[in-house]
Amino acid sequence: MADQQSADSMQREQWKRAAAEAAVGREISDGMIIGLGTGSTADLMIQALAERVRQGLHITGVATSERTRSGAERLGIPLAELDDVAALHLSIDGADEVTLPALDLVKGRGGALLREKLVAVTSHRRIIIVDDSKIVAELASRHAVPVEVDRFGWRHTAGRLAALGATVQRRMASDGSAVIAPFISDGGHYVLDCSFGSIAMPSDLAGQIKALTGVIDHGLFVGMTERVYIAGSAGVQTHDRPA
Ligand code: A5P
Repeated sequence: MADQQSADSMQREQWKRAAAEAAVGREISDGMIIGLGTGSTADLMIQALAERVRQGLHITGVATSERTRSGAERLGIPLAELDDVAALHLSIDGADEVTLPALDLVKGRGGALLREKLVAVTSHRRIIIVDDSKIVAELASRHAVPVEVDRFGWRHTAGRLAALGATVQRRMASDGSAVIAPFISDGGHYVLDCSFGSIAMPSDLAGQIKALTGVIDHGLFVGMTERVYIAGSAGVQTHDRPA
């Protein structure tokens, strides 16, 4: 049983790497400014990008989290702050859930959703890289929607989210074995994980969540992705959002 689980997770890791390497190979060219996503799949993309930089590619990255910043710095990828660039050519990031063919997403299990969205909206094109376990028929059917909120009065903000139909849990951080404290995002906010069951009309819900006082942003990325690279047993496939 444990052996099977470890074989499955090795297989997923290989597929994530295949999606990451395909996107880096096909989407990136010299001189680009690139948004660097956050998470285990984005980490593999950063490794593939660093290899191309070592071979002479000139690009500038904009990190979507402190985790990504330190990883990219360690691997020698030149970085700029978001405010130092007028726009990004593209961003490449992972996702927790993806619907086809709309390419709507749930993001933020890693807690970087606000900076991921800030970088995404400043990018001309947004590319998502996933293994095929991330494809869902309906958004938020598997994961809660992460919502980043101001810490001041967060219980009241949680109440407003509950009034929209969510079961709300403040995210906690752990040191691997024990929960130690509330999770704090890079921007200094709490993340509330909001279970809505599944979401039939993601753009309506996205607007309702965003309109609540106390909400900074949320992990529904609706109509924001141009292309997804999906890796699985059939290899790497790309899907473009219909026009
Ligand atoms: C980070 O906050 C998230 O949005 C990640 O992009 C997402 O959770 C995907 O992460 P993995 O690639 O680790 O599954």
